[in-house]
Amino acid sequence: MSGEVTDMSGDQTASSAGHKGSVTKAVIPVAGLGTRFLPATKATPKEMLPVVDKPAIQYVVEEATGAGLNDVLLVTGRNKDAIENHFDRAWELEAALEKKGDQQRLQRVQKSQVLGDIHYVRQGDPRGLGHAVLCGAAHVGNEPFAVLLGDDLIDPRDPLLPTMLDVQRRHGGSVVALIEVDPAQINLYGCAAVEPDEGDVVRVTDLVEKPDPDSAPSNLAIIGRYVLHPAVFDVLRETPPGRGGEIQLTDALKTLIDEPADDGGGVRAVVFRGRRYDTGDRLDYLRTIVSLASERDDLGPDFRAFLREFVATMPPEAGPGDAS
Ligand code: G1P
Repeated sequence: MSGEVTDMSGDQTASSAGHKGSVTKAVIPVAGLGTRFLPATKATPKEMLPVVDKPAIQYVVEEATGAGLNDVLLVTGRNKDAIENHFDRAWELEAALEKKGDQQRLQRVQKSQVLGDIHYVRQGDPRGLGHAVLCGAAHVGNEPFAVLLGDDLIDPRDPLLPTMLDVQRRHGGSVVALIEVDPAQINLYGCAAVEPDEGDVVRVTDLVEKPDPDSAPSNLAIIGRYVLHPAVFDVLRETPPGRGGEIQLTDALKTLIDEPADDGGGVRAVVFRGRRYDTGDRLDYLRTIVSLASERDDLGPDFRAFLREFVATMPPEAGPGDAS
């Protein structure tokens, strides 16, 4: 891989070995079919499902731009037009709100249009997360970049991406985010074996996509935030289909663990202990909405009052012996 290397520091090692310049681009795969939410997602992209009153994808784009990544590439697919419309201007809506003098709603409508510089590429043939990331290769070029997966929302009060960007800037290579999960749940995630480095930053020594709990190397699960060295693109081009017959990003990162640092190798992880909300399955989606709505200044007081009353009047669950 060749090309121009950004060197903001004037430090020669930093510029040649690890692409330690500042990261400006985020890639967000949004081509998934959202089958877990059918029929809601029959004609509406799952990324557009509201989390309180904002589509899930907007939280993720706001996280990227909030971390200084103003160039956002959405990797889309068929039936995802609503996402493009959401980040575009809505002239008629704006005119109607302006006529009514509803400045508050007008600002909320306009916010998604001015978030950043948003680009789109189509994935065409959905062959897995690794393939989705590879679809961003031409746009990203030869610089480190972030990948954000839409099913994970990270609470802005517990910034994760800025920490990961800092780790990549200092060490080069690639950086993943890990959480500790119940060992029985590790088969739902990519799993990492690690060794200590500095506090919550660890070195990754092995990666397995969705291992059986019995053979998993740890209970550390990859969540949907990555800061990747562009060397991952060449590796992805050579990565055969893995778990589920899909080209797995986890498999490509496993290859990078042992590559020399000068070639963009090395994978570190940030172990995240902050607030994360999963909107990827129905129960977690409901939990997310209840948590976020109950904390809102505008809706929270009334919603919390409702919740207290609702829970207090809820009939107890039937115990195992109670069924007649
Ligand atoms: C993907 C990754 C997996 C990771 C997960 C995080 O899986 O392949 O390694 O743990 O995202 O959400 P998916 O949930 O798309 O099946």
